[in-house]
Parts: sequence; structure tokens; C-alpha cells
Amino acid sequence: MTDGSKRIRFTAVQRLLHWLMAIGILSMLFIGVALVSTIGRQYVALLVTHKTLGIILLILALVRLAIRFISGAPPLPADLPEPMKLAARLSHVGLYILMISMPLIGWAMLSAAAYPIVLVGGVRLPAIAPQNSTLHAWLWDAHSYLGFAFFALVLMHLAAGLFHGLVRRDGVLQSMLPGR
Ligand code: HEM
Ligand code: HEM
Repeated sequence: MTDGSKRIRFTAVQRLLHWLMAIGILSMLFIGVALVSTIGRQYVALLVTHKTLGIILLILALVRLAIRFISGAPPLPADLPEPMKLAARLSHVGLYILMISMPLIGWAMLSAAAYPIVLVGGVRLPAIAPQNSTLHAWLWDAHSYLGFAFFALVLMHLAAGLFHGLVRRDGVLQSMLPGR
């Protein structure tokens, strides 16, 4: 992995993926909550949207992780206290883990219930877990609790980004903003 230490910003591709995925993931969290709180006709459309966008985000997260290993990241400001640097690194690792595990758990959860996993356009995915009702219940809980953990982590991350941009004004927010 390169350390990207000569750069002060993420590459244009990294920034594009960051913001596209931020919109996608926030939409997914709200669509997920809407899903479990509706019994109306919109359920079917919401579910197919949730599954399709979730699988697209899984592919993008893997591409993004590969780019992260190739292009690295700009260094954090040298005067940032060590505990804050550690918190930044750990929270980014947590975000990557959730971006990859949430869609996989959703996919496995439907597989364990032997539901057909059909996306927009009739694309049908294979099962990735054996049919098992205990496993299905366990994965359902995991998808739900991790969904709320994801929400909490994104909010903390948003607050940290604004703290860097508005309070510390140390260039960290600029490193992820669009533009030249
Ligand atoms: C970034 C990816 C994803 C995120 C952030 C996400 C988030 C969520 C959230 C927050 C919920 C509501 C949980 C609750 O309130 O109990 C949910 C429900 C659900 N998700 Fe996901 N999800 C993702 C990917 C997927 C994928 C890829 C699938 C399937 C292929 C999937 C299938 C489901 C199903 C079936 C439900 C429950 C629907 C119900 O019981 O009525 N999710 N999701
Ligand atoms: C669902 C929403 C979001 C997710 C999943 C997410 C995820 C991530 C991840 C994984 C990184 C680390 C990049 C890397 O090292 O490869 C990152 C960096 C960053 N994000 Fe987000 N992000 C989200 C929303 C936001 C929002 C709303 C802001 C606005 C303040 C923001 C501001 C930043 C900044 C400034 C960085 C650079 C931090 C640094 O260099 O240490 N993000 N984001």
C-alpha cells in the first residue's frame, strides 16, 4: 500500500466514490427502516430497490478498498493528537467493515430463508448461505443491529468531518471535498 504522503487530498476517483457511496448508504439506511415499518404495497418496490442498491454498494466498496490499497490516503495533520488519529483510523476501518458486511449479511439472511434474491431487471443472485431458520433469525438481528451501529458511526463521522472543517480548519475536510 502506498501511504499517499505526498498528497494533501484523496484522488478524484476516491472523492467521487466517497460521496456517491455516502448518498447511497444513507438512502439504504432509510429505505431499510422504511422496509421494516411498512406493510403496504410499496414494500415490494422498496425491497427490490434495497437489494439492488445494496449489491451495487457492495461492489463499489470492494473497488474502493482496492483503490485505497493502491492510492493510499493523505496523512492526517501532524499536530492532531494521537488519540484523535487513532479514533479516525479505527472509525474508517469500522466504516469499511460495515460497508462490506451489511450487504453480505442481507444477502446471506435471504439465502438462509431460501427466498429468491431477485434484483431490478430480473437479475437473480445465487444463495450464499444454507437454508436454516436459526441462521436466518440470527442474521436478521445482525443486519438490524449493525444497521443502527452504521447510522451511529456515520453520524459521528459527519460530526468529526465538520469539526475538522469548521473548528480546527486543518484541511482534513478539504481533502475529501470535490473540486480542484
Ligand atoms: C449497504 C448495505 C445495506 C444497508 C446499509 C442496509 C440497511 C438496512 C437497515 C437499516 C434495515 C432495517 C433493519 C431494522 O430496522 O430492523 C434493513 C433491512 C433489510 N435489509 Fe438491508 N441493508 C443493506 C444491504 C442489504 C442487502 C444487499 C440485502 C439483500 C440482498 C438486504 C436485505 C434486507 C432485508 C430483507 C431487510 C428486512 C426487510 C423486512 O424484514 O421487512 N439489505 N437493511
Ligand atoms: C454514509 C456516509 C459515509 C461513509 C460510509 C463514509 C466513509 C468514509 C471512509 C471509509 C473514509 C476513509 C477514507 C479512506 O481512508 O479510504 C472517509 C473519509 C472522510 N469522510 Fe466520509 N463517509 C461518509 C459520509 C461523510 C460525510 C457526510 C462527511 C462530511 C463531513 C464525510 C467526510 C469525510 C472526510 C473529511 C474524510 C477524510 C478523513 C481523513 O482524511 O482522515 N464523510 N469517509
